[in-house]
Amino acid sequence: SIRIPCIFTIFGGTGDLTHRKLIPAIYNLTLEGLLHPGMMIVGVGRRPLSTEEYRDNLLASVMKHSRFPLRTDIWDRLKERIHYFRMNLSESEDFSSLKNWLDELDRTAGTQGNRLFYLSVAPTLFEPIVLNLHRFGMVTNQGAWQRVMIEKPFGRDLKSAAYLNQVIESVFPPENIFRIDHYLGKEMLRNLMVIRFGNALFESIWNSRYIENIQITAGETVGVETRAGYYEHSGALRDMLQSHLLQLLALVAMEPPISLDAKSIRDEKVKFLRSLLKMDDELLRSHIVRGQYGPGIMNGQTVRGYRQEKGIHPASNTETFIAMRILAGNFRWGGMPFYLRTGKRMPKKSTYVVMEFKSMPEILYFKEYKGMQPNLLEIHIQPKEGISLQFNAKKPGSGNEITTVTMDYCQNCDYESNSPESYERLIADALRNDQTLFASWEEIEASWSFVDNITRYWDKEAVDFPNYAPGTWGPPASDELLARYGHHWWNL
Ligand code: BG6
Repeated sequence: SIRIPCIFTIFGGTGDLTHRKLIPAIYNLTLEGLLHPGMMIVGVGRRPLSTEEYRDNLLASVMKHSRFPLRTDIWDRLKERIHYFRMNLSESEDFSSLKNWLDELDRTAGTQGNRLFYLSVAPTLFEPIVLNLHRFGMVTNQGAWQRVMIEKPFGRDLKSAAYLNQVIESVFPPENIFRIDHYLGKEMLRNLMVIRFGNALFESIWNSRYIENIQITAGETVGVETRAGYYEHSGALRDMLQSHLLQLLALVAMEPPISLDAKSIRDEKVKFLRSLLKMDDELLRSHIVRGQYGPGIMNGQTVRGYRQEKGIHPASNTETFIAMRILAGNFRWGGMPFYLRTGKRMPKKSTYVVMEFKSMPEILYFKEYKGMQPNLLEIHIQPKEGISLQFNAKKPGSGNEITTVTMDYCQNCDYESNSPESYERLIADALRNDQTLFASWEEIEASWSFVDNITRYWDKEAVDFPNYAPGTWGPPASDELLARYGHHWWNL
């Protein structure tokens, strides 16, 4: 558990993330006895709410979103430590009042000047908030600690990300900056390193000599929901690929780190990201597929096309799907393709990695037996969390038939899907000052360089949207891309 008390201040305290993720996470951590009993929580927002009203609203969210049933005794104690502070984030004066108010809270609550600031606001507000925290003396970096957690998106290209980073680093030392990629907090991403480096069976064949291709899929059934304003300027490439998919890929493909500390792991991830081959225009055209869902019927329900969604431009060219074939120019993976795809309005919500092993040479059994399949190692990230290994065996009986069998480990099937939420782990880690599950600036820099190359090309290429029906695995070009190389997507 965490031994030092602090004030956890959430900018965006009335926002969706606070209600759906942050406060339920705080509640769950409290229930498990993992937080310091003196930690204070301050929600900062513009709405006129009393602290009482704020607590009531949060209670409703905890009841709805916590993975545990409500325990009123726990909530009653926690809520006493939650406060609401109303302010206008574009008024400097208000930051001055915030400073005084937090100082006062420090004195009465004994939090000793330790602060964790969580920025869950529109990205345009990151800079003014950070600068005002500095200007009004809320970041002293002396004696007590002050840390900042920053939600994505971290910039919208390399240039804006670099600028933002420089602003934040001018106020907080690098070790106090926690850049969130909530995928890194997911159980199976954390499990990946154990699976890879804890098993002689896997690590020894984890390379292009034995593996035919590696696929990463992150499918979602939802459409753009209520996030038109953000998503229109982001799209699947920036929203999912730049962050979550590249992080996941880096963990799958990096070299073994020399230790499990944050720096060693991050160094390996960066090295891998930098090894991704830069595509020229010809490859950008032929190896990347973008898509946008049209209207249609999904699970018996009529759904709107992206262009008909509320707040979306009727001629929008924002992509809601992306698939790509990429190569890394390093010794382990040279020549072997990685296939990445993510999309909204896919047939199911499912995130997984598939390692497809090379087929055996066509001698022996291939001639005699029908039905050989490649070995597959599937790493299921969500909603199922687990790992399965598929291999060939003889079908019992006198015939020469092969049957594909699967060894299946499902880590959340037994626990009623009750693994800790990403945000629980990430908040606890920031409180105990562990950077391992946060993205370093160098990783973000490498992933934006990769993404910028794609957007640069897209900006000059015409698109023909919409090009896939809701409830399908994206445009036909995505299947054709793999088929050209004799591969196909594993739709799990
Ligand atoms: C967010 C994206 O970062 O991740 C969303 O902005 C996406 O568009 C979400 O829906 C997916 O997260 P998860 O944890 O549900 O896979």
